[in-house]
Amino acid sequence: MSSYLDRIGAGLVLNNPEVFGFDFMPEELVGREDIQGQLASIFSSISHPEGTGRAVITGPVGSGKTALVKRFCDDVVRHLSDKRHIKTVHVNCRNAATASRVMQKIVQDLDPGHPDRGLGVGELLTSLRRMMQRDNSHLIVVLDEVDHLLRQSGDDVIYKLMRIDEDREKAGTLSIILISQEQILDLLEGAVISRMGRTNHIRMTPYDEAGLLQIISQRRDLGLVTGSCPDDILTLVSQAAAPSGDARQSIELLEGAAKRAETSGRSIIESKDVQKTVVTMPTNVDSMNIEEIPPHAMLILLGLCRRLKRQENVTSGEAEKLYHVVCEEFDQGPKGHTTFWKHLKRLAQEDIIVTRTAKAEVGRGRTQHISMPHMLPSDVARRLETLIPNRLRR
Ligand SMILES: Nc1ncnc2c1ncn2[C@@H]1O[C@H](COP(=O)(O)OP(=O)(O)OP(=O)(O)O)[C@@H](O)[C@H]1O
Ligand SMILES: [Mg+2]
Repeated sequence: MSSYLDRIGAGLVLNNPEVFGFDFMPEELVGREDIQGQLASIFSSISHPEGTGRAVITGPVGSGKTALVKRFCDDVVRHLSDKRHIKTVHVNCRNAATASRVMQKIVQDLDPGHPDRGLGVGELLTSLRRMMQRDNSHLIVVLDEVDHLLRQSGDDVIYKLMRIDEDREKAGTLSIILISQEQILDLLEGAVISRMGRTNHIRMTPYDEAGLLQIISQRRDLGLVTGSCPDDILTLVSQAAAPSGDARQSIELLEGAAKRAETSGRSIIESKDVQKTVVTMPTNVDSMNIEEIPPHAMLILLGLCRRLKRQENVTSGEAEKLYHVVCEEFDQGPKGHTTFWKHLKRLAQEDIIVTRTAKAEVGRGRTQHISMPHMLPSDVARRLETLIPNRLRR
């Protein structure tokens, strides 16, 4: 009906801010079909009355472990709704790092009225068993950030949950999924992983630039005003987050850039909004190495920066022309083409610039698109303008 009213409360750029919230779950994950398939096959028997599954998921920060499992739990409940009554509980062990806290959280989630005080782990397990029996349902327990539990109280409660059906006629009461960051794999190695079954271990890898680009394109479409965020901006954001491979970081960057554009009263995000957000992030690339580069690399970089103040990227052909202009300004004879390329490569290796070969041009010469996601071109240009005369005088 009154869809024109949707504009009320909507910003110039952000029209659904909740899309950038930390607990927002998109309806579809992008680019993780392989891993989703692996998880589904681990749980292939769950459609049967007594079927269960067990999985261990590890991967670096922001690789989508929690998102993968939350999506899976919601999807499987819906998918099997006419076959089996499935419930899920997601426990973050950072907030529930002891056996009894974990059990309390599970029982309380299933029955908010359940008395929680003074019950031991054994009694809570009995309650849980009874609840599941009463409505003949199956429970998927997710223990997220499980390293906190393992460190503080060991793995005992995990085995107790796995053996919930022991000594009874009924089977298939409970499935379990453990999630943890990769670094603490040693904590999981040995007992836990082997008892969960080695083939049930899914290892997630960090996202690459293309993966991050897909994720933030989805967030743009869901959360930003149409036309407010050009594709080149998305590329810049994914380049900035690529060294970490962390999806959360790429989403935060896009949100930060959107807010900056809004604060400046603009309705379109510009590259400086991204770069200014990047430099305030704790993982920002060390820009100090600019002082260390050779003088002609500085001249090339200055040409680039002046153009990148206004544009998301510059082609290598343009960059070489800009370099010649800067050389003239500083009264220097420009170096040859090969040296120019050598400097460009070095600037990319130092993470000062990012170079990308345009898809359509692969194989045809060496045209590259150069951008500067990690730093603000105007700042770098200003520093170079004072650095260069000193370096040339030496
Ligand atoms: N494939 C994807 N498609 C869409 N959004 C994704 C995808 N992967 C991750 N995200 C989003 O990126 C953010 C980080 O993902 P998530 O919280 O799942 O990472 P994690 O691996 O659990 O990180 P941590 O180790 O810090 O717990 C979340 O907002 C999540 O929704
Ligand atoms: Mg997580």
